[in-house]
Amino acid sequence: MEPVILAIDTSCDETSVSVTQGRRVLSNVIFSQVTVHAPFGGVYPSLAKREHASKIDSAIALALKRGHKIPHAIAVTFGPGLPPALEVGVQTAKDYAKKLSLPLIPVDHIEGHIYSAYAQNSNGKPLREITYPFLSFIVSGGHTSLVLVTSPLSYTILGETLDDAAGEALDKGARLLHLGYPGGAALERVALKGSPTIPFPLPLQGKKTLSFSFSGIKTALRREVERMPSEKMVRMIPDIAASYQHVIITSLIQTLNRALKEYPVAVCTLGGGVSANKTFLRRFREITRANGVKGITPPFRYLHTDNAAMIGVVASLKWHEGIYLTDPDILDRSPQARLTQYVALDPLQ
Ligand code: KG4
Ligand code: ZN
Repeated sequence: MEPVILAIDTSCDETSVSVTQGRRVLSNVIFSQVTVHAPFGGVYPSLAKREHASKIDSAIALALKRGHKIPHAIAVTFGPGLPPALEVGVQTAKDYAKKLSLPLIPVDHIEGHIYSAYAQNSNGKPLREITYPFLSFIVSGGHTSLVLVTSPLSYTILGETLDDAAGEALDKGARLLHLGYPGGAALERVALKGSPTIPFPLPLQGKKTLSFSFSGIKTALRREVERMPSEKMVRMIPDIAASYQHVIITSLIQTLNRALKEYPVAVCTLGGGVSANKTFLRRFREITRANGVKGITPPFRYLHTDNAAMIGVVASLKWHEGIYLTDPDILDRSPQARLTQYVALDPLQ
């Protein structure tokens, strides 16, 4: 029997709570803080904490009501993420685990994104058998990581960003172009109206690396914006947005292509907020197909960006491996958590 899990994620600017059973998502509540942070053009940590604290109990109550099942365990994202935001989720999870005498399952946020492609609806669809090893490409606001998943919950990081994450670069670009916050989706909308006519420099060109770098493109965009007369700039915004998005996606895809050639796997999964981008999704499907690899993307829209359902899905795998805490007090948030670090510490009991 698969345990019913109450999962919590407060790693950034969404308060999310989910009830899952195995890979089935019975309920998933997301209270977004977008309107709170929008005036600041980015996430404001102390406001994020305040918002999480004021919403978390009602998010839990709603998720339990919609999930219709009594949980056997509590799962929570312990890192990486914004320290004040993580703190709310971790403390709440500890309190509930103690109050209900349930085991506590700590989950890494990136681990959640890795398995988000395998989440199912409440009817167990899509079926998607998980086979190992698989490659996972996580492209979010905080991370750009190529991860080889060798067996359940065992990770080898093959490549990461040397500076900004791809989502962060998209957000900063959108801000430079005054497209609002959060920027990735806004930039995508504007880019659809333009063409990639401006040749921004492709990062790490000619280097045989699985690392990423996006801060140079951001600087190139700033220079382009500064030197352009403002009337021309207004006219050119769709083309600038399309060019900027194009070079970021091309860099992501070229590096993924290199990884697929270097590590011949049968399956490659995609996750993280940037994977909501239609152009990126299309190019991901093209490059996996060209390499004879099965490309798997999150099956439902909410699974691309931050959500607690993916945390619950990982938690059930951990439950089966005996990875849970019977003493919730041991857990602390870990804002700089690295996938491979804590795996060495498992099992956590
Ligand atoms: O996974 P996520 O929700 O949070 C983190 O773990 O970081 O990812 C958020 C990132 C932001 O940078 C946001 O701009 C980007 O995902 N994003 C998009 C789109 N939707 C969200 N980027 C490009 N196109 C989109 N449609
Ligand atoms: Zn995320």
